This record gives sequence, C-alpha cells and structure tokens, in this order.
Amino acid sequence: MTIKAIRGFRDVLPEEARTWARVEAIAARVLRTHGYQEIRLPVLEKTELFARSIGESTDIVEKEMFTFPDRHGELLTLRPEATAGMVRAVLENNLVEGGRPLKLFFLGPMFRYERPQKGRQRQFHQLDVEAFNDPSPQMDAEIIVLLAHFLNEVGLDRLTVHVNSLGCAECRPAFRRALESFLRGVRGDLCPDCQRRLETNPVRVIDCKVPRCGELVQDAPWTVDFLCPDCRRHFDGLLQALRQAGVTPALDRRLVRGLDYYTRTIFEVLHGELGSQNAVAGGGRYDDLARSLGGPDIPATGFALGLERLVMLLGRQGHPAPEGPRLYVAALDEAAVEKCFGLVQELRRRGFTVETDYMAGSLKSRLKRADKLGALRVLIVGPDEIARGEAVLRDMATKEQVVLPWAGAIENLAELLDKGDGS
Ligand code: HAM
Repeated sequence: MTIKAIRGFRDVLPEEARTWARVEAIAARVLRTHGYQEIRLPVLEKTELFARSIGESTDIVEKEMFTFPDRHGELLTLRPEATAGMVRAVLENNLVEGGRPLKLFFLGPMFRYERPQKGRQRQFHQLDVEAFNDPSPQMDAEIIVLLAHFLNEVGLDRLTVHVNSLGCAECRPAFRRALESFLRGVRGDLCPDCQRRLETNPVRVIDCKVPRCGELVQDAPWTVDFLCPDCRRHFDGLLQALRQAGVTPALDRRLVRGLDYYTRTIFEVLHGELGSQNAVAGGGRYDDLARSLGGPDIPATGFALGLERLVMLLGRQGHPAPEGPRLYVAALDEAAVEKCFGLVQELRRRGFTVETDYMAGSLKSRLKRADKLGALRVLIVGPDEIARGEAVLRDMATKEQVVLPWAGAIENLAELLDKGDGS
C-alpha cells in the first residue's frame, strides 16, 4: 500500500506553485513599498502562548490546535496563526524599544485541526502583516488599504471589506452585560455549544455557525452602540481614512472575529465565490495583547490572508504557463550528449535558461520535446555535426537554421540568446 498525505494536508503541484510564486512576489513588492520588513518565526510554540493570546474559550484553542507534549512533557502547539508568535518575538527580541513604530510581515504554514473542506485545510498558509506601536485609526486604514491594493495587484476583484469596532476594555463590559442578558432570554433555543459559550465567552455566540443561533442573534445588541467616545472617534477616523483612500467598506455590526485579542477595529475581506469559507483575509487591532503576555503596552494592528483561498480564486482564471527555456540542446547520440554537457552547464552558469536531455534520441523526438517545453531555439548536435566540427541552431518560431562552428559556440550563443529577464 502506498503512503498517502495526511488528511487536510495537501501538495501544491508545479502548475499551482507558479501562482503561489507570483502572489508571493507581488506581496513582497507591495509590502516593501509600504515599509514592512520580513520576519521568520518558528512553527512550534509553547501551547500557553496561544491559550493566553487567542483565548482559552475560542474554537481555535478549544478544539483546533495540534498540541502534543515534547519528550519532557512540555505542551507544544503547531502555530494555528501568526500574531501570537509575532508578539512573542517582538517582546523577546525587544524590537520596539523606545516606542518606535515597527511594521513586519511573515508568510508561512499554519495548522488547525478543522474538518477539511473546500477552502479549509489543516495545514494552510497565511501572509501575516502587523504594525506595532501606532494606535492611530490611520494605521488600521493603512493595513486595510494595503490589503486591498495587494488583492487588486494580484488581479482579484468582487471583494468586500467588512469592518466593525469591538470597543476597548472601557466600553466592552457594558456591551457584554447587554449581550449576556439578551442571550439568557433565548438560552433554551441556543445550540449546546452556545449554551456553554454563554458562560465562558458570550461574544462567540454571535459568530456561531449553527443556523438557528445565527437567526437568534439577529436581534442581539451591537458592539458599535456601546462604544465609548474615544472608540467612537477612532472608528469614525478609520472610516474617514478609508474613504480618503478610495476604499468603501461595508459596516458589519455582526462581525466579531474568532480570536479574543481584538480591541476596536476588526475587519474581514470576503469573496462571494468562496461559499461558506468566504473570508480571504481577516484582522484587526489588538492593543492589549502585548501587555496580557507580560510585556509593555504596545498598540498593534494587522491582518492575515489565507493563501490557499486566494490561489483557489486566482486559479479559476488559470495558472500562468511555465516560461520555456531560451535554448534546448538536442544531443542525438551518446557522443553528442557527452560533448554538449559542458556547453549546457556553462550557458546556465552565465544565466541563460537552457534545457537538455541526457538520453540520446532522434531529431524528430527532440524537436517535439523542445516544442513541448516552449524552447525558443534548439541547438542540434548529432554524429554529422560532430564530424564537421559544427552545431546547427534552429529558431523554433521561424524554423530557420544556421550553422555554428563548435569552436566558439558558447560565445556565439551567449551573444544570440536573450536571458529573458530583461538583462
Ligand atoms: P483568521 O481569521 O483566523 O485570523 O485567519 C485569517 C485567514 O486565514 C482567513 O481569512 C482565511 O483566509 C485563512 N484561514 C484560516 N483558517 C484556515 C483554514 N483552516 N484553511 C484555509 N485557510 C484558512 C488570524 O489568523 C489572525 N491572526 C489575523 C490577524 C493578524 N489579526 C491581527 N493580525
């Protein structure tokens, strides 16, 4: 029996990987223009980090983490998201000493033990973008505008940006009390999970996926009606900044997000074609997280984008074709294979994309292969060419052929071929 991949863990095959590479290159460029630096973080962290940041009574921590003890019994978890690890790294490495703003991004695999379905895997990848030490609504707006700009650059449209404000430690208790009293009134109709959530984390009831719970919370109180004056000003500032940047968000009063660390701004970018797993990206502000992990006050805001979902949407328009080699070397017998080996390696060393095969084959089969690869030119070397001290260079588009003397062939080819990268 052959061994298969683990459920919810998938291979990204070469065709799809070309879209990944394109998306990653655009992300790196857009993030650079907005002043974000890359950081790379470990895949494993102490379980406690996620429990304390994402929240003990969230779905992620309660039932979706890949957690296991190491050889000494310490509980470790494969990161289910990047924000907690990012804050841990910022604190541990003193990256915001002196209260300077710091803008970081990170791309890598995350792990959640969810039921796999379209757009939902157990290993998935996030582009995670975080801005530290800037409490302004403009920084929240920058993060959202950056995300919209990136999605536009990769060629994704029909997106909506949903925003909401959760308020802060000042105004949230009043909202929570109102929500609790509303939920107690409908308690008997809530699903068993939500009856439990009502005691542990009532806000989670608002985004319960059970349809009946969804209907019941239609009449629940809204966070925006409980905002203190500072949070109200912050939210208005965000909406104004977004308008200035040409982003029209949908105010989504039901949006609460599935992680506990948020304060004030939260948002999601949704795409209609994704079905129930319709968020391409989500994020928000988390001004209290650094302190709750034992650090100083570090206001922060950010988002994470699910790369599988993005690539799935882009893949509907087709993945980019591979770029063909500039030259295919057709060695027609074993002696030609031996003779051409050095030439191929030297041209590659000089930066040309060159392909060949080390198994001799007929001219017809080699030309077919060159055509399939999309090679622009073919260098033909067989017993006749070797005897004459020559090689034949064929242009695949015009089918024109020229004879090159073998001596000096590398220099001749280096002049004739184009590297294809603009150099
Ligand atoms: P999140 O909403 O849990 O936020 O995840 C962000 C994105 O990751 C989702 O919108 C989705 O595209 C993708 N995603 C999540 N779970 C899966 C899955 N099982 N399979 C495929 N894609 C998935 C966070 O993780 C926060 N850390 C975002 C953030 C950053 N907030 C502030 N800074």
